[in-house]
Amino acid sequence: MSRREQPIIGESPAFLEILEEVSRAAVLNRPVLIVGERGTGKEVIADRLHYLSPRWDKPLVRVNCAAISETLLESELFGHEAGAFTDAARRRLGRFEHADGGSLFLDELASTPLSVQEKLLRVIEYGQFERLGSSQTIEVDVRLIAASNVDLPALAAEGRFRADLLDRLAFDVITLPPLRERLEDIMPLAEHFAIRMTRDLGRELFSGFSRQAMAQLLKYPWPGNVRELKNVVERAVYRLEDADQSVDEIQFDPFQSPWRPPGPGQAQKAKEHAQLPDPRRQPIDLRAGLEQIEREMVIRALAWSGDHQGKAARRLGLSYDQLRGLVRKHRLGRLGKDD
Ligand SMILES: Nc1ncnc2c1ncn2[C@@H]1O[C@H](COP(=O)(O)OP(=O)(O)OP(=O)(O)O)[C@@H](O)[C@H]1O
Ligand SMILES: [Mg+2]
Repeated sequence: MSRREQPIIGESPAFLEILEEVSRAAVLNRPVLIVGERGTGKEVIADRLHYLSPRWDKPLVRVNCAAISETLLESELFGHEAGAFTDAARRRLGRFEHADGGSLFLDELASTPLSVQEKLLRVIEYGQFERLGSSQTIEVDVRLIAASNVDLPALAAEGRFRADLLDRLAFDVITLPPLRERLEDIMPLAEHFAIRMTRDLGRELFSGFSRQAMAQLLKYPWPGNVRELKNVVERAVYRLEDADQSVDEIQFDPFQSPWRPPGPGQAQKAKEHAQLPDPRRQPIDLRAGLEQIEREMVIRALAWSGDHQGKAARRLGLSYDQLRGLVRKHRLGRLGKDD
């Protein structure tokens, strides 16, 4: 699927308002700044801005400012002449020239070094710049769309981003709400990603989400926003053993496993956990020791089951109610989720 055909999903009032704002901004020949937490869809919105604009049949050129080293970013954007620097064997056009007539999407704008910011300001003001190693001024007609998941006014206040550039870019600022603030979008997005994954797997039909799975999806805070939702849903569909089965349970953390290696600083803790209290080394209260072991076993069973209390109970040879009792007794309520 080409990027242009990528559907935009969302029906929450907050998201619909954003789409309206995008339609309004698209037709104006002004810079737009898209702000939002990671994974909220800034790139998707940048695409839409371009394809709804009068420049839709001209190039949309993307540059991820964080992915290119400081020294290379300038020549990437503005191009260079042969011999401009050691590795510049031939003349190379920059992205601004490639985007002439169309739009240039500057992603992760906050990573742009101040030297490049200065040149950007001039292109925005006058549409002019020079290739590295050249004194010839080049004029282009490019619409800038920029994105950031960092608060740019705060960076400007610290002197790490030019306030005058921010002013020029911020003609229109579109701020994408995090997914947890647009609950109505969660299920339509989840279904969209599930159906696409089902198709990618060559299966016929997606059998839907169980009520429990839906409740899980709606309750989760989604720190990674739509991208995280996409990954979580795709993984859940991919892991279905039977293609006719519905998704009954959601695992949010792909690293969750009883065999997960300890993180930095946790190795010592893991060792302590693995050891039984030893009366040869110190006097212990047997009952307190047994309680401690019981607590540890419940924690481990919950970790193994992905916080699924029913599964954890079966793993320990307990009834569901017995396990719930232990969860309460040891105050592990936050760990275990209801079935
Ligand atoms: N409204 C939406 N409808 C359909 N897919 C979406 C929507 N919003 C985001 N996505 C999908 O979610 C993923 C993340 O979106 P995108 O790359 O645009 O986020 P981002 O804000 O640029 O994230 P980052 O700050 O990490 O770069 C992409 O796969 C994108 O296709
Ligand atoms: Mg992005």
